[in-house]
Amino acid sequence: MSNRTTFTTKLGVIAATVGSAVGLGNIWRFPYETGQNGGAAFLLVYLICVFFIGVPVMIAEFSIGRSAKANANKAYKILSPGTHWNIIGIMGIFASIFILGFYSVIAGWTLEYVFQALTNGLAGKSAAEFQESFTGFSSDTFRPLIWIFLFLALNYFIVSRGIKDGIEKASNILTPLLFVILIVFCIRSIFLPGASEGLKFLFHPDFSKIDSNVILRAMGQAFFSLSLGMGTLTTYASYFSDNTNLSKTAVTVGILDTTVAVLAGVLIFPAAFSFGIDPSQGPELVFITLPNIFQHLPGSLFWSVLFFILLSVAALTSTISLCEVGVAYLHEEFGITRKKATRILIAFCIVSSTLCSLSFGVLKDFKLFGLTIFNFCDFTASNILLPLGGMLIAIYVGWVLNKKIVFNEVSNRQSLKVGFFKLLIFCIQYIAPIAIALIFLSGLGVFNV
Ligand code: PFF
Repeated sequence: MSNRTTFTTKLGVIAATVGSAVGLGNIWRFPYETGQNGGAAFLLVYLICVFFIGVPVMIAEFSIGRSAKANANKAYKILSPGTHWNIIGIMGIFASIFILGFYSVIAGWTLEYVFQALTNGLAGKSAAEFQESFTGFSSDTFRPLIWIFLFLALNYFIVSRGIKDGIEKASNILTPLLFVILIVFCIRSIFLPGASEGLKFLFHPDFSKIDSNVILRAMGQAFFSLSLGMGTLTTYASYFSDNTNLSKTAVTVGILDTTVAVLAGVLIFPAAFSFGIDPSQGPELVFITLPNIFQHLPGSLFWSVLFFILLSVAALTSTISLCEVGVAYLHEEFGITRKKATRILIAFCIVSSTLCSLSFGVLKDFKLFGLTIFNFCDFTASNILLPLGGMLIAIYVGWVLNKKIVFNEVSNRQSLKVGFFKLLIFCIQYIAPIAIALIFLSGLGVFNV
């Protein structure tokens, strides 16, 4: 156990964990959720959720992973032998395959758009033509699959190489690259005429907009965005070294993840307002509206290519962390090589993402519980498996796991000062499970707010 691979540097830990957190959830979902839920008021609630619920649950996940130094299933078996708490890990592995299914579809689309932008395929189109070509492409049987498979191949290439030579190396390059591209974009966006309207929308809260629905949506967004509740962070923490400061890492990830989401807002809202576009649109905002906006900018080709590369990079650093959940499990539990484990996991993902992709075209009328396959995977993972996992993790660490283990992990075997420990345990024991139970029930439609 002691010679388990670890991330080799502090940068590696942060780059990989921030890379997992920062993804389509920040650049696509956050602006759209903010747009639909009152702008700055949503942002304010989101910040509270990230720091009072998200960060404590993240520290809980880190403590499980690092103390057990094992995959998300085995970690519970080591810490609580003879119990069934490992169900949390198993749920996480299923959730990762579901999320990889629908997430890879969107990631595949971003690669197509990089290609389109590079070959000037986005130039000179009207808004209606953008809509038409997006619908035509996403409902096609084969073309999206080519990009999805290419995207999964990139995942295979990175994850099969292992933690140090694969995930850490790729994250060290891709995560900083993402920040650089994003900052270039924000600077471009805030100098557009009329940009201040967009900034006002994002930063001037109107407290009358805060209602229980806004709170619940903000919490859901915080969970998805921080990659919580499904073993990803447990698995990554199993590769942290003994002197990684868990609470500092969690706070850093929370701050950087939120910064990227806010920067994505700074990129999108001024641009949308400047061109008179409704910021509350869903997937269209990225795939239909933004290329349309870029066309009106000098150097449109450059901006389009850069934006879709940004999205692909963000998606890739998240999906490698999702793959690692299943790969670590298969590799450690069944004693197969990492390469073989990655091949098996990718094979599952090929099936789930193919079905998700076809559900925009030939399988669009095939429904599971009234949802298309894509929406079913999204719904089951985001609204059921993830919040349920998060709640169980908080209950497990708050009420079941020996507090000494948690204390030892958070204080690095009593070598760090942890004056906040009581507050942390209070958040894990009470605030997080109750808050998550509310998201969970509302996600299931048990009550409507
Ligand atoms: N946090 C990622 C995003 O915001 O796009 C999505 C994600 C990655 C969710 C990894 C869950 C996960 F385990």
